Amino acid sequence: MHIAVASYKGGVGKTTTAVHVAAYLNTIAPTLLLDGDRTRNATEWSLRGDGFPFTVADVASAMKLAGKFKHSVVDTGQQPTEKDLKALAEGCDLLIIPAVPLALDTAGLRQTIEALQRMNENRYRVLITKAPPPPETEAQQLKALLDELKVPVFKSMVPRLKAFSKASASGCIVDKADDSRAARAWEAYEAVGKEIVTYARVKKSA
Ligand SMILES: Nc1ncnc2c1ncn2[C@@H]1O[C@H](COP(=O)(O)OP(=O)(O)O)[C@@H](O)[C@H]1O
Ligand SMILES: [Mg+2]
Repeated sequence: MHIAVASYKGGVGKTTTAVHVAAYLNTIAPTLLLDGDRTRNATEWSLRGDGFPFTVADVASAMKLAGKFKHSVVDTGQQPTEKDLKALAEGCDLLIIPAVPLALDTAGLRQTIEALQRMNENRYRVLITKAPPPPETEAQQLKALLDELKVPVFKSMVPRLKAFSKASASGCIVDKADDSRAARAWEAYEAVGKEIVTYARVKKSA
């Protein structure tokens, strides 16, 4: 299965999502994380600790490596053009668009979704990340808005938790982060991973 993670905006959890989706898929079968961002955030993250349980490589080595892995996840570069998005959506089984539930951040999301809708692309799904805890309702509001716009959204949301930045700082996957909510944080991406597997199955039988 080939997964791409993209969005017009930075800071929405692209790299965090790519790393943890790769970690989940790697529990099923060997997985390759391709770092397609000039900032090399995912690569640097993997080098800060004891390394990830899966392979991280530059997109330039994709051709050489792809055949060796069952699954691959691409953390794409920032600011994709509409052509980039189209190529990504066509070249993968599922394009994940992370989005954060803040009013100020909806412009980038809208831009990304409008581009995908213009190209009549249905192989994408929005993932709400950094969801603030109840009683705050922004995440539910964003979910409701996207449902209304008939934009496909993951049922699971990723909560806003410090465990994620701790994991990045210490170079590990979030379940190994030194934080009391580390297990909760990992469960969120486990749920996302399970959804991805279901969507891929539905697609195959369609
Ligand atoms: N669910 C989350 N809760 C809290 N912080 C998060 C979460 N996801 C990502 N972050 C933090 O937000 C920042 C941006 O995340 P990152 O994955 O690097 O985004 P992008 O790749 O889109 O720029 C990082 O400091 C990261 O640790
Ligand atoms: Mg990034």
